Amino acid sequence: MKVLFVCLGNICRSPTAQGVLSYLAERHGVDIAVDSAGTAAYHLGKAPDPRSQSAAFERGIDMSRLKARQVRVEDFYDFDMVFAMDQQNLADLKSLRPDDAKAELSLFLDVYGSLNEVEVPDPYYGGQLGFDRVLDLLFDACENFLQGRGLK
Ligand code: 4NP
Repeated sequence: MKVLFVCLGNICRSPTAQGVLSYLAERHGVDIAVDSAGTAAYHLGKAPDPRSQSAAFERGIDMSRLKARQVRVEDFYDFDMVFAMDQQNLADLKSLRPDDAKAELSLFLDVYGSLNEVEVPDPYYGGQLGFDRVLDLLFDACENFLQGRGLK
């Protein structure tokens, strides 16, 4: 099973989702390959935002070795599931997705979140609280995902 998380810049939300799902999968003994990408190319090759890294590090997750990349058409053949962080990411991915793509595409929290949010809010222009909230939302949804608890 291969899962790809996608946000806008691939430096805040989707690398955090990658880090959280990899961390929880290892703890649960689940074999799963996880990657992340951005719809935009602003931050190619950069490590996650320091604010995301520190919010994740506080919960035991080291994201320092991740590097931003842009999503590409081949991802839809390579991955089994592609999860968007927000509605805009989902719309952008829908227009990129080839008709014969293998990957299922959905809004991650809409299917797996149980904290009354359907989007992971973009924390980039806000304070540290927004980054902590990203962790809360992703821990919840990744736990549900690993338990096979699709809520829709
Ligand atoms: P992300 O956050 O999509 O969660 O990685 C953002 C990162 C950078 C920008 C916007 C959102 N930006 O405008 O540069």
